[in-house]
Amino acid sequence: MYQLLSAVIVLALIPSQMSWGIPKINHGVYAQTNVAPRRTHVVPAIYFFGDSTIDSGNNNQLPTIGRANFPPYGRDFDTRHASGRFSNGKMSSDWINDFLHLPLAPPYTSPEARMYPFQGANFASAGGGILNNTGSVLGQKISGWQQIELFLERRNELIAKLGTVATSRHLRDSILYIATGGNDYTHNWITNDTDAAILPHDEFNNLLLTTFKNQLQVLYNAGARKVAVLGIGPVGCAPHFLWFTNTSTGQCMETVNQYVSEFNDGLREMLISFNQQNQGAHFVYRDIWNVVYSMAKFPQNYGFTNGDTACCGTGNYGGGSRCLNPSMVCENPAAHVWWDEYHPSHRASNVIARQVWSGVDPSTTTGNSTSTTEYSFLTIRQLAALDLSDG
Ligand SMILES: *[C@@H]1O[C@H](CO)[C@@H](O)[C@H](O)[C@H]1NC(C)=O
Ligand SMILES: *[C@@H]1O[C@H](CO)[C@@H](O)[C@H](O)[C@H]1NC(C)=O
Ligand SMILES: *[C@@H]1O[C@H](CO)[C@@H](O)[C@H](O)[C@H]1NC(C)=O
Ligand SMILES: *[C@@H]1O[C@H](CO)[C@@H](O)[C@H](O)[C@H]1NC(C)=O
Repeated sequence: MYQLLSAVIVLALIPSQMSWGIPKINHGVYAQTNVAPRRTHVVPAIYFFGDSTIDSGNNNQLPTIGRANFPPYGRDFDTRHASGRFSNGKMSSDWINDFLHLPLAPPYTSPEARMYPFQGANFASAGGGILNNTGSVLGQKISGWQQIELFLERRNELIAKLGTVATSRHLRDSILYIATGGNDYTHNWITNDTDAAILPHDEFNNLLLTTFKNQLQVLYNAGARKVAVLGIGPVGCAPHFLWFTNTSTGQCMETVNQYVSEFNDGLREMLISFNQQNQGAHFVYRDIWNVVYSMAKFPQNYGFTNGDTACCGTGNYGGGSRCLNPSMVCENPAAHVWWDEYHPSHRASNVIARQVWSGVDPSTTTGNSTSTTEYSFLTIRQLAALDLSDG
């Protein structure tokens, strides 16, 4: 029923001028799960942490070139307004909001976030990453640690309004959605931007994982129990790096994709042990590497005609510059996997969101998992349905 409802909602939300291709089942990996929720449970709010892939406008007030609050950004959004989202329309986080039947979480730095403190919030910031200095060359941003500090500030506000018991319950039942780490590669390691970038890739991954685990621990200690952690996508296939590599065949930077994939393997293992070490934790790994790579390489399987070129940009693969004005927009954004040099389009974000929401994680398709490790691979749909009230 839940699944049926969300399918109907997805279809209803696709603007009618867009052609809509239902993604093909690919090697059985992206099939929808048929696991029924244990009990339908209401999620009171969702909190977002991460980077420009889910920043809904926190950077609008910051001095940075990492901003998207001008046309043509937002041209296919419900309001046609450039809210600061790095998309022609919705981001994966917005689709997840819809699937949960929750109002869009306001950017934490906006007045709306003050007006509706119980509605969840978006702390994500373009340029932000796991490491403090990631993205600094772009200008200011809210780093991973700073986003957590803002979350703790919100928690104090909730305690002041609701008391400690109701706040613990609210945070226990809410979902936290974290999409970070991409910039630690694209705006740090690959570009040699900070001291950490001199580390060999395996040591760099260890630094990211150690730091990230400490950050997740603070969220757990603050009362978060249902947390969806996205892996890093295949950033070496972003149009910017196709332009940088400049091959005639649209070759991705596969070494970088491989390093990111090793980070994701480490993240999976880290979350399994994290859940074992922290009672009641349901911190789940959601893979997006595979679905994004598959869209980039086989766009037609998902109803796109173009998997390598940014709809809004210049130069080869549209990756030679940022998306700066409406004259740079391609003829049909809905045909493109990539909206700009780094970010997926409205429609590609929907495919990603559905993978995160209800797709079978590739890491669960082999072998049996124990009941403890299963927690690490729940879909967000399953996470939402969990009733933690007696646990
Ligand atoms: C990162 O920044 C936070 C403050 O946001 C600070 O507490 C922490 O020590 C910094 N970490 C490093 C490695 O500099
Ligand atoms: C970063 O440094 C490495 C090793 O010194 C070099 O191969 C690479 O081209 C540099 N990347 C950029 C974007 O400057
Ligand atoms: C990309 O490669 C082509 C030759 O294949 C060359 O003409 C062009 O100048 C290169 N572009 C950049 C930005 O290096
Ligand atoms: C584990 O896998 C084996 C064979 O692959 C299967 O027979 C068994 O039922 C599975 N156990 C569980 C608990 O799923």
